Formats: sequence, structure tokens, C-alpha cells
Amino acid sequence: MSRLVVVSNRVAPIRQGKATAGGLAVGLHDALRQSGGIWFGWNGEVSKRPETACETIGNITYVTLDLSKPDYDQYYRGFSNATLWPVFHYRIDLARYCRKEYEGYRRVNAMLAEKLKPLLRPDDILWVHDYHLIPFAAACRQLGIGNRIGFFLHIPFPAPEVLTAIPPHEDLFRSFCYYDLIGFQTETDRLAFQDYISREAGGRVEADGSLSAYGQSFCAGVYPIGVMPDEIRRQAESYRGRRPIIGLTTEGRRRKTLISVDRLDYSKGLVERFQAYERFLEHFPEHRHNVEFIQIAPTSRSDVKTYQAIRKQLETVAGHVNGRLSDLDWTPLHYLNKSLDRRTLIGLFRTANVGLVTPLRDGMNLVAKEYVAAQNPADPGVLVLSRFAGAARELSAALIVNPYDCLGMAEALDRALRMPLEERKERYEDMMQALRAADLNAWRDTFLRDLRSFGRHRVVTARRAAAF
Ligand code: F6P
Repeated sequence: MSRLVVVSNRVAPIRQGKATAGGLAVGLHDALRQSGGIWFGWNGEVSKRPETACETIGNITYVTLDLSKPDYDQYYRGFSNATLWPVFHYRIDLARYCRKEYEGYRRVNAMLAEKLKPLLRPDDILWVHDYHLIPFAAACRQLGIGNRIGFFLHIPFPAPEVLTAIPPHEDLFRSFCYYDLIGFQTETDRLAFQDYISREAGGRVEADGSLSAYGQSFCAGVYPIGVMPDEIRRQAESYRGRRPIIGLTTEGRRRKTLISVDRLDYSKGLVERFQAYERFLEHFPEHRHNVEFIQIAPTSRSDVKTYQAIRKQLETVAGHVNGRLSDLDWTPLHYLNKSLDRRTLIGLFRTANVGLVTPLRDGMNLVAKEYVAAQNPADPGVLVLSRFAGAARELSAALIVNPYDCLGMAEALDRALRMPLEERKERYEDMMQALRAADLNAWRDTFLRDLRSFGRHRVVTARRAAAF
């Protein structure tokens, strides 16, 4: 079997016995272990004199590099996270565009391709991840790299009307077409991509589903990313006896708990969620003193202005909710602006009566899937899920809400907390079935199977090379 080369913005080598790694990292790591290969990307460091480091663990070589300050500012903080991220999450109002940053974005993609080239064997298969690396294949082709290259977009792909808000959208999209296979989380994303091809790029969608644009032909498919539900269930079971401390009422009963876990990001709908919780306590006062909401939201991309703004806004709303509604013996909202280790999170999921996952827009949202998988089958909690999370396609047995509808979310919380055991069990079984049918292994294996069979070795022509 040919080797696999995974390219992603961040790389975190997994050492044996390290249980804190997230499911996705473990899944990709397993794929690399099956065929042997390389995991290549940024190590998260910024330095004056960037260096490349190489570490081999078993049959996997981790090749990581630092970024210079200008590269970090233009490629990561700038074009990736201040332009692409907001636009791809339908927040044009929060996006800014700077030509210099776009040049930096392309420059870093070209630099990464150059560093990877000498490490490649002719039959290696490359799997590139996420929006930081859209032009990576084009940069490879320019260097004469003819290997099969697949790409998976972890975030949503926006409708053409939204994408075209990015001034160099055509140039960006043209560079996208040098991949052999492009994977999306949902059919909505794939259709939006296809729409851009026919309406903006003057390309074609063939009867067999293959695509062509800007002189390139390639394929696109839907590969919803999953979790390992039974593994999570086992981890959650083994957490019993070490339950996180949950507040007691003055009568000594355990309060019901709602849990949310998100990076502190404006796409996650945190402010709207806090407001909906406040509305819930106002509208259904019988729940006061009997329920607690735990929001874990570690800081993310804190040197990007829009992230600083959402953090301030959230602190204000959290302070407002608690200031208005708390009592000496009851704090309705616990807002933890920090990360917790994976085991504790799984334990919290198990204990919580409601998992509240209400992003304004999200590629998939694995927290929704992990919450379900961690439940006790004999007494499962209820998932309240935004219709704008990719996960809503598969988890239709959740209570689906519109995060812009404050009262609608409040009503869903009331319904979740009152839901009879039989209904909770039915919904849980339904969702577990969906999680098992499309787990993390299926996501990875299907994508790689398609890449191996659909991808074609490319003859790099001078015309193609000139396109980057
Ligand atoms: O979900 C998108 C994503 O960019 C992932 O690729 C990444 O692991 C996560 O968000 C965290 O973002 P960052 O690498 O910017 O901290």
C-alpha cells in the first residue's frame, strides 16, 4: 500500500499512552499507522529564524515547522482567520480583506509545498486538511509534484453570493481545482461548491458527478466526519464514581445540568445561547434553583480582533445573567473560560441532562456527537442542536433549534428537561445508530478509498504550472 502524507495547519505528534488527543487526531494517526507515512505542518510556534523538525515514532514521521512573524500574521491570523473563517461561516460583516495578507497566504502555501517536496515518494498519497491550505495542491503542481492529492474542508463551504465577497475569490477557487478529490461535511456544502463551478467559474458538472473548471478535472464528495461512539461510551462509563461535582439544591437534590463546550468563537452562537438561557429562566421560573448551565469556552485566536470582541461581549452577558438571577445558594450559569482535559469533558457529558450545541454555523460539530455517545443508555440526556450545525443532518432525533430564535431555544430547553425517559431512550438509540453507521473510521476509510480510486496521476504542463 502506498504511503499516506497528511498535511494540516497544525500537527501534534501523538505519543503512546497520551489520552488527551481528540478523536480526529487519533483517527488520522491510525490511518498513518496503517500505511506508514508523514504528518506535515506547522508546530504552532512563531520564531525569528523558523526551523523544521523531524521526529519519527513507529512508522510515522512528524515533520513540523515554525512560522516567521510576518507569515503567521498574514497567513494564519490574517487571511485564514480574519478573511476565510468569517466568510465561510457566513459572517461577511466580520471579515476584512488585505491584499498583502492574501499574498502571505499563498506564499506560505508555496513554502510548505517546497519543504514537503524532497520528502515525497512518487506513489505517496497526500491528504490535505482545511481552509488554511486551499492553494496547497496548486503550489505542489507548480513544483512538478504529480502525486494524488485530496483535500477535506472541515468548515462549511458558503453559497457563491457569500464567497464572492472575498475579492480574490476567483484566484482562490482556481487554485482549489488542482486537487484530485475534494471532500465536504454535508451535501449543502458540496452543492454550494458545485454552484460556484457552474455559476461563477464557467465550469461543468458531468453526468458521472466529476467536475471540470479552469482546465482541470476533479471530483467532490460528501464525507461527514464522525466519532468512535462505543469508545466514548466506554470512557464515559469508566468515569463513574469520579463524577464532576455538580451543585446541590438546599433540599440536597442534585440540580439538573446543561452543558456546552466550544472554542470561544463568534460562529458558536454563545451570546445567543446565554440570552436564550436567561429567557428560559424568565419564561419557566419553575426551573430556577433546579438547573445549572455549564459553559466551557477556552479562548481561541485571541490575537484576532473579532475574537477579542466576542470574549468581552460574552463576559458582559454572563455577568448580566448571573447578576440578575443568582441567589446566595444558586449560580445559574458557570462560564469557564478555560479548557478541560478530554476525560473530564466526557465525564461531564455523561452527567449532564442536556447537551446544548447551538452554533450559528458549523462544519460538523463533534461535541454534539460526543455528547450523545457519552450518555447512559438506561437514562440518556437530551441533545439540543442547532439546525446550522453539519451534525443536524445525521442527528435529526435531537431537538433541533434555530439559534436566532431566543424563545424557541428556551422552549426547547424546557421540553428537554421534562422529556419522559421512553422518549429520551428512543431519540438516543436513533442517534447512536447514526453515529455507528458513519463513525470516524468510515469517514477516513471512505475518503482514502475514493482518493486512491478516483485520483489520477497528473501530467504537470507548463500551463498548469503557470497558473499558481
Ligand atoms: O474546525 C476548524 C479548525 O481550524 C480546526 O482545523 C482546528 O483544529 C480548530 O479549528 C482550532 O483552530 P486553531 O488551529 O486556529 O486554533
